[in-house]
Amino acid sequence: MSSPPDHRGSDRWWQTATIYHVYPRSLQDTVGDGVGDLPGVTQRLPDLAELGIDTVWLSPFYRSPMLDFGYDVTDHCDVDPVFGTLADVDELVETAHRLGLRVLLDYIPNHTSDQHRWFVEARSARDHPRRDWYVWSDPGTDGGVPNNWRSEFGGPAWTLDEATGQYYYHAYLAEQPNLNWHHPDVRRAMLDILRFWIDRGVDGFRLDAFRRLFVDRAFPDEPENPDYRPEIDNESFAVHPIHTSEQPELFDVVAELRRTIDAWGDHVLLGEVYVEPDALARYHLTPDRPGLHLAGNFNLLWTEWDAGSLADLVNRYEDALPDHAWPNWVLGNHDRSRIASRIGNAQARVAAMFLLTVRGTPTIYYGDELGMTDVIIPPELVQDPWEKNVPGRGFGRDPVRTPMPWDASDGHGFTTGTPWLPFGADAGGRNVASQRTDPASMWNLYRDLLRLRSDETALELGTMHDVRAQDGVLHYQRRWGDRTLLIVLDVGGSGGPLPPEGRRGTVLLSTNAARRPGRPAGARLGVAEGLVIALGPDHGSTPASDVPMTRR
Ligand code: GLC
Repeated sequence: MSSPPDHRGSDRWWQTATIYHVYPRSLQDTVGDGVGDLPGVTQRLPDLAELGIDTVWLSPFYRSPMLDFGYDVTDHCDVDPVFGTLADVDELVETAHRLGLRVLLDYIPNHTSDQHRWFVEARSARDHPRRDWYVWSDPGTDGGVPNNWRSEFGGPAWTLDEATGQYYYHAYLAEQPNLNWHHPDVRRAMLDILRFWIDRGVDGFRLDAFRRLFVDRAFPDEPENPDYRPEIDNESFAVHPIHTSEQPELFDVVAELRRTIDAWGDHVLLGEVYVEPDALARYHLTPDRPGLHLAGNFNLLWTEWDAGSLADLVNRYEDALPDHAWPNWVLGNHDRSRIASRIGNAQARVAAMFLLTVRGTPTIYYGDELGMTDVIIPPELVQDPWEKNVPGRGFGRDPVRTPMPWDASDGHGFTTGTPWLPFGADAGGRNVASQRTDPASMWNLYRDLLRLRSDETALELGTMHDVRAQDGVLHYQRRWGDRTLLIVLDVGGSGGPLPPEGRRGTVLLSTNAARRPGRPAGARLGVAEGLVIALGPDHGSTPASDVPMTRR
């Protein structure tokens, strides 16, 4: 297998990495079935390298009945035919490494498909040796479900296996039974899967649904959530998941996974943990017993897009993270509304500048670099099981998973067939080919930001200072050696005066393509403008001999 590329300066490549999240069904179809595939991802890697990202994370491509589009796995060590073959993975990894890119896979430890051989055996008889690989309970006292636990996707988190008369637990679909991580053989089998992919050359993993790995084996009822609003909330909010999420044993697994993966080389673990900043910090454990390299920080998905809330979020996160931890930032993913739909296209440009200049490893969701928005899916084309289970409530995730438009042709360079989900109505103009040639496009803004980031150690690794909000404008500084960069972002959308220290500085990049870099910043920030300004006379960077994890 090929080895991962060297990274200049830093021995912790995942600190300076820029992660690009690929939803493989939607990047590039090479066989005309309307579904993206692995050879398609390989074919598009040069485009992604040109954009300037250096790490791709692939949502699952394993064998699966696709009830949750690959998050229901029947074989973690094989490729579903809709995506290709193991040889296609090898080629993808080889090509990526040749281009200087790293590859992360989605690792799904919480559950398998109900069609997985393990579950088929487990459900075959109460005394089957595989039975305890999953979580079983006798019926409750009334003969029904054992307790009030709710599935994320609606309905009870328990399904009766009629043949054996017991219920099995599933945090998600009934077709996604939860594995029992208390069982040592489950742990071993799941670690073997990591090893399998590391041996094939991948550089790390995103840990799916990571908080749900353990449940309280006494199966107590969850407490009711008094703030639950049935008209708008996901039904699982009806209870507080204190017995089914973040159980204490989880943190032993965090430490074990980290120890194991570090012993195999220089790989990264990025956890899917939807929590507030102080809770995120827990996943980093301690310097002597480190946890996740990166604890996925999804706070931007629910934080109000205003300067005060953002400054508060950054400060809370910086304060909460222990010194040995490194931040991560996410603007969007395959489960939540796209950034351009949440805050509009002008502010999505400001958000891009925030993502790529704030301290921490950024995660870019495919298509956000074009300013793609959520696509309305007519009922007859709905694919997502969540939308099918709970229709019309806005939980469905199809709108954010639509195919990438590469050009203005019929299939938008994505497919020669019928795409599995429709393109956005704006794909004729909003596509890679047209944005490449438009200096003011979102694609070029991302490309310029990514270039600037890789040129400026202060942006990649610098400390974070003076984070504050003033009159709708978010300010912060990044410092590395004697290099200081000031970032000012008009989040409020009405422009305003630049702070005095910024006026004499030199513009390195503006979200407004009309403002040319290399000139003094002057007195004002334009409407919905973001600026990166170099302060002081010295524009050189200090070499990264030892990368500090410290913050301010
Ligand atoms: C994670 C994934 C989501 C999936 C769920 C169950 O939250 O991001 O797409 O449906 O886990 O695997």
